[in-house]
Amino acid sequence: MCGIVGYTGKDDAKRIIVDGLKRLEYRGYDSAGIALLVDGKLVVLKKKGKIRELESEVTCLDLVSHTGIGHTRWATHGHPTEENAHPHTDCRGEIAVVHNGVIENYMTLKEELLRKGHRFKSDTDTEVVAHLIEEERNVCSDFFEAFLRAVRKLKGSYALAVITTESPDKVFIARKDSPLVVGLGDGENFVASDIPAFLPYTNRVIFLEDFEAGIVESDCVTVTDFNGERKEKKPVTVPWSLAQAEKAGYKHFMLKEIFEQPRAIADTISGNLPWLRGESEIEGLELDGIKRIQIVACGTSYHAGLVGKFYFENLTRIPTEVDYASEYRYRNPVVDENTLVVSITQSGETADTLAAMRLAKEKGARLLTICNVIGSTATREADAVLYTYAGPEISVASTKAFTTQLTVLLMLSIFLAKVTGRDEGTEDLLSQLLQIPSKVEEFLRLEKESERVKKIALDLYRVKNMLYLGRHVNYPIALEGALKLKEISYIHAEGYPAGEMKHGPIALIDETVPVVVVATKGRVYEKVLSNLEEVKSRKGKVVAVTNEGCREVKEKSEFVIEVPEVEEFISPIVNVIPLQLFAYYIADFLGYDVDQPRNLAKSVTVE
Ligand code: AGP
Repeated sequence: MCGIVGYTGKDDAKRIIVDGLKRLEYRGYDSAGIALLVDGKLVVLKKKGKIRELESEVTCLDLVSHTGIGHTRWATHGHPTEENAHPHTDCRGEIAVVHNGVIENYMTLKEELLRKGHRFKSDTDTEVVAHLIEEERNVCSDFFEAFLRAVRKLKGSYALAVITTESPDKVFIARKDSPLVVGLGDGENFVASDIPAFLPYTNRVIFLEDFEAGIVESDCVTVTDFNGERKEKKPVTVPWSLAQAEKAGYKHFMLKEIFEQPRAIADTISGNLPWLRGESEIEGLELDGIKRIQIVACGTSYHAGLVGKFYFENLTRIPTEVDYASEYRYRNPVVDENTLVVSITQSGETADTLAAMRLAKEKGARLLTICNVIGSTATREADAVLYTYAGPEISVASTKAFTTQLTVLLMLSIFLAKVTGRDEGTEDLLSQLLQIPSKVEEFLRLEKESERVKKIALDLYRVKNMLYLGRHVNYPIALEGALKLKEISYIHAEGYPAGEMKHGPIALIDETVPVVVVATKGRVYEKVLSNLEEVKSRKGKVVAVTNEGCREVKEKSEFVIEVPEVEEFISPIVNVIPLQLFAYYIADFLGYDVDQPRNLAKSVTVE
């Protein structure tokens, strides 16, 4: 959602901060701002709309600054205006604050501060933080102490970065329920809500945890708890490169990330093979007495979870449920110490998923998370972590995170099958999984040459509704295909189990509603074929994702996308790729901002 960047060091703070904000554009925002310390004074610039507006004004500023903070805002409290954009300042214009999250008790605090004579300039919850620090500064001798006193009064979620004219080479930070990372440079240090913001400069980081605060200076970083007690923090090196966080000649990050999938899947397989082969352990994973599995996740990660259910139940016979993380805590789930709760989250910061994990932990469950971001909140709170090695995923629409999640889920279920003595056939499955990167590579290479998916998208991009059908292990792929299309092209799309269509959605079908059908070989192939007939007899236009030998499907479909034939269980990893491309090209033909779709944010850190 919102993005934070802070800098202090030898270099030009304004250039580094604006550059960092541009790297966070993918998070979604509607205004941006920067505050710089210049000759003991604060200079604040804010702009509604895109960062380039801010950038053109900042570049014209004839000033030298080595410390500053910046922010991209996604409006929650107050409209997306210049006044409401961050940074916010105190009455005297000496303290500047940027904030991600929601200050839940801001109204009470604001009323109190108004009574004490503070003057507010915005409708935001964030502005109270600047005035609160100003107020606390009147009663204590040290700025950091005043900062901590203010932070202790806040309720809600916050990642905060603050600068002040009285300490012109420091950035003050605090975190609760919203991510904040410090990047360690050489004679310079960085603060950000997301690692890509400072990746050109460093990949050595310190993750701030909840209820931690700190002072970032050019040559040292001090971390304390909210009472000012010093804490030792170990820096971590994140294996992400700058190239992974750049477009590398592609028109959009989404397209680049789709084409990165062969590498991402291969890296995920090799990164996880050691524990699957028994050469290492899954640290923290205690499986004795596990009687059921519950998967919690949101959006695309939830769809990966639905495929995971097939894997777990078929390979291990352990009963598995899948929940939207946002619903889990409201349904009073039956969960105990014999439950393994598997959370799936690309970012590791999704508020709903974290809340579901916390509830499960409270009830005694064992927690395993499948996550892409090292050091993220989910990875710190779970008992055990399995990483996807997708590299940074910048596009809001998740692609390579999804296929690598499926890869880990399949590997985990093979592992559980071995542990539970049901390993018949699993070696074969694994050896077929090892072939997947080259199969995906082959499909993408052919697509580059033939532009098959792109041409179909060109034929269909003006439609208003679409239906996606799949069955069995490919039913979640129909859901994921429809989600991709909705997210970035704003075309209404529904995913359905193909066999369920006759119970309602069939009424929607006519010649204006294309129906995308996942009809690859497998145990439900014949069934899907008859569902396809049902579409045809209602004059629906069929776009089929199918395999080379599937003559019957081809004969009945207006548009055919051929994917390599792979083992049915593995097929979701391959079959989803044309659907990602299809959604991408449609959105691009419609002229939409593919990487930053309207109303959406990359990581949803509020409930
Ligand atoms: C995917 O295309 C979406 N942007 C969204 O559904 C996403 O998968 C969801 O918000 C969950 O995010 P997470 O994996 O980071 O927890």
